[in-house]
Amino acid sequence: LNEGYSGILNKNFRQLDASSVGNIIQRGGTILHTSRCPEFLKPEVRSDAAAILKKEKIEALVVIGGNGSFMGAHTLNAEHGIPVIGIPGTIDNDISGTEYTVGFDTAVQTAIEAVDKIRDTAAASDRTFLIEVMGAKSSAIALKVGICTGAENILLNDVKVDYSKLADDIAHGIERGKKSSIIIVAEGEKPGRSYAIATTLQESQGISSKVCILGHIQRGGSPGPNDRFFATLMGVKAVEALMQDNLCHAIVVRQGKVETAHLDECHNKDDAVFRDFVGIAESLAR
Ligand code: F6P
Repeated sequence: LNEGYSGILNKNFRQLDASSVGNIIQRGGTILHTSRCPEFLKPEVRSDAAAILKKEKIEALVVIGGNGSFMGAHTLNAEHGIPVIGIPGTIDNDISGTEYTVGFDTAVQTAIEAVDKIRDTAAASDRTFLIEVMGAKSSAIALKVGICTGAENILLNDVKVDYSKLADDIAHGIERGKKSSIIIVAEGEKPGRSYAIATTLQESQGISSKVCILGHIQRGGSPGPNDRFFATLMGVKAVEALMQDNLCHAIVVRQGKVETAHLDECHNKDDAVFRDFVGIAESLAR
């Protein structure tokens, strides 16, 4: 069906066959369309959805999405016995129980290319740039992009900015002969927080900076090899799981292998794995 959970409620069903996925591996976005469906948090709305699925004789729901979508799938299964398979698909890489979520790699690649370009102009004009990457509840993109672009600093989504440390790090780079600085900012709850950070950096430390919000370019574009590879393998595994009646399961990547796990194991992941990189990023910038 089209448009995720809203698609169930709107009965936006669509018949797919093998030819539906021909010639799309190189395309970004989703041919199925997507939507936010906050109403799905309400039990009565989930009951309506379950009734529609049963009436339409849908045997199982394959949900491709992030932690919100997974939560919806899990609840639909627990409350109404709807068989579900979850495929982790989100640029945020914030689902536990899997090392990989489809979309992350391409988003990181897109952000790296943008940061490299900004570094050219930053270096040409001796400037400090705050570059904001996506991640409302996760700093995974920021941390990976920060390491891959040799950023002078990475500001995490949920950590208060320490302006004197930030100024110190920038000054240290200048002492080492760097005339420009790249600070990667994880977007946090509200996109655009970098503007307030730039203002405070100017007012409290006298450092002027330019802001660049990368935004939704990170959610489009032709998928990179990891996304193509894992998306394909996960699709195959999902079909196998359906045939084996593994019907409250997620398709996960563990130690590089695509496997089936119980949906229970896949919830909100903090970016703990990535947070281990904070120290490395800091020592590389020094
Ligand atoms: O969940 C993925 C995500 O890309 C977040 O990192 C980002 O904050 C959010 O979606 C943006 O969502 P929307 O396009 O609905 O504003």
